[in-house]
Amino acid sequence: MLKKKVEDICNRQVEREGYSSNLYLAMAAWAENEGFSGVADWLYAQAEEERIHFLKFIRYINERGGKVLIPAFKKPPAEFKGVGEMFREVLKHEEFITASINEIVALTLSEKDFNTHNFLLWFVMEQVEEEKNARAILDKLRLVGKNNMYQFDRDIMSLRIPSQPPPVA
Ligand code: FEO
Repeated sequence: MLKKKVEDICNRQVEREGYSSNLYLAMAAWAENEGFSGVADWLYAQAEEERIHFLKFIRYINERGGKVLIPAFKKPPAEFKGVGEMFREVLKHEEFITASINEIVALTLSEKDFNTHNFLLWFVMEQVEEEKNARAILDKLRLVGKNNMYQFDRDIMSLRIPSQPPPVA
């Protein structure tokens, strides 16, 4: 049975993972509209991964006898200043999610909830990959500059490190 404190913080993460999926969907829709179909593909794929993270927390809370609260989500932005600016937001958002996962890890240790701690280890590794992906894209964007966005858009999917499927809970 999940302790209330752990249940609450896991529900907070349900909201954050669901919002992440919506945020990347908003970014994907914007990029597609601007003609960056490669960037849009990358972001649609990322939105799917976030939905898997969202579901994973939901299923975990239920499996441990907790109560899942499906939240209302804040509306993500619909406009972005450009591809570079958008990927800086992706990195900032992933750093926020990493900090959020780390807070849950810290709580599970202080509450001696080693089952939830074990469940979170996959997310700890996943965040390393997600930040690495965003940084790799920002590095590439610095190299291509403004003049070769066509090639960047064509090649962005090759920069994608697919995440490992989450272990079956
Ligand atoms: Fe599910 Fe990108 O954090």
